Amino acid sequence: MTKEAFKIAVAGLGTVGGGTVKAIERHAEVMASRCGRPVIVSAVSALSKDGLDFDVSGYAWYGDAVEMARDCDADVVVELIGGSEGIAKKVVETALEAGRHVVTANKALIAHHGLALAKVAEEKGVSLNYEAGVAGGIPIIKAIREGFAGNDVNKVQGILNGTCNYILTTMREEGRDFDEVLKDAQDFGYAEADPSFDIDGVDAAHKLAILASVAFGVEVNFDAVHIEGIRHISSTDIQFAEELGYRIKLLGVALRHDDVIEQRVHPTMVPLSASISTVEGVFNAVVVDGDEVDTVMLEGRGAGERPTASAVVADIADIARGISLPTFSVPVTDLAKVSTRPMSEHCGAYYVRLALMDKPGVFADVAAALRDHNVSMESMLQRGREPGEPVPVVITTHETLEADMTAALEAIGALDTVTEPPRMIRIESA
Ligand SMILES: NC(=O)c1ccc[n+]([C@@H]2O[C@H](COP(=O)([O-])OP(=O)(O)OC[C@H]3O[C@@H](n4cnc5c(N)ncnc54)[C@H](OP(=O)(O)O)[C@@H]3O)[C@@H](O)[C@H]2O)c1
Repeated sequence: MTKEAFKIAVAGLGTVGGGTVKAIERHAEVMASRCGRPVIVSAVSALSKDGLDFDVSGYAWYGDAVEMARDCDADVVVELIGGSEGIAKKVVETALEAGRHVVTANKALIAHHGLALAKVAEEKGVSLNYEAGVAGGIPIIKAIREGFAGNDVNKVQGILNGTCNYILTTMREEGRDFDEVLKDAQDFGYAEADPSFDIDGVDAAHKLAILASVAFGVEVNFDAVHIEGIRHISSTDIQFAEELGYRIKLLGVALRHDDVIEQRVHPTMVPLSASISTVEGVFNAVVVDGDEVDTVMLEGRGAGERPTASAVVADIADIARGISLPTFSVPVTDLAKVSTRPMSEHCGAYYVRLALMDKPGVFADVAAALRDHNVSMESMLQRGREPGEPVPVVITTHETLEADMTAALEAIGALDTVTEPPRMIRIESA
């Protein structure tokens, strides 16, 4: 092979950056054959060489990643530092301005600044690829941008955060409470020391906003995502869910209704008959509904050194092969500006858990509050209780407007026989 090498500069040599350098080295031969020329790392940048478990002596070393993005000899700058602002953003902007392709795993950056960055990429005629940022090793961006190109996609939903899925799975399997399982997840390295981005749903929302943009051809709009995390899910909810034929998942759901988009991340009761309910532990899954293909689910590892590096390397391979696609599947000027459907207009079924004092007429008061707000009950479960303790009661509803459900819960919460604020979890049909 005599063709000139395709050169990569990697900024950030942590979990994913280190994994990417090692994967390119490990697969040098097959990459050269697949891309029609050698694909090599030519430059790297990190804060320090200390603690690296691979040799960087063969690469140009830059202490300043922005300088590398501007001055190096690489065709592609791979940003694996992280964060939506600061150095990562500067590295990506500088590389694009310098006419270099960019590959990143940084979903926060793409969710917040993807539109502006995509404009620069288009003006400069270079690619901005971010497969690893959405569901790690699952090639979902490729699937939507290329595999579903002949479909109208009106729904995308998924388990987009492995930390949350691990916590919910472990709570169910071991009958343990949230705080305890979170602590274990941190000790095992599945959760960050500050886990809020994961457990409060922000990380999943970054990924959902990107998926909605690519799937529906609309401007990426993170601020339009309704976000709820899993902190308030109790082991009691998880047991009730099983009894009712559901499993609780932190789901990201994006729906297109003509010119209105609904984007939401929240704990969801998923029927045990739905494939996504069987996706457990740290695994992620994304389900796409296309009008031609029907429903397709992709499942795999959403994080970790090797699965994430696999997606980064695939993005690099595309560029080396000369495959260049619009960042969000259509050119920036063709991305639709759409409005957001407020959650009050969401229509769905609900699970509600109440703690009631054991007094005559309590159920009648709850039923009246539901009736007065147009909420139709589907089923009710009641648990035994210790003497003097409130009675745990669970209600599921038929399809209801969220504004009505919220008003009914306010009325129920105000009853003096209700001893805790009502807990509500949305039910998704599939
Ligand atoms: N980890 C995953 O499984 C995963 C999965 C999907 C997407 N991602 C995304 O991938 C990106 C990287 O994540 P990661 O887990 O690999 O993070 P990480 O292990 O913390 O690595 C980040 C690296 O960037 C380096 N760095 C910090 N500031 C720098 C600077 N000014 N110049 C050059 N290097 C700098 C850090 O150096 P020090 O170590 O010296 O601070 C560290 O080596 C993030 O956007 C993340 O959201 C990660």
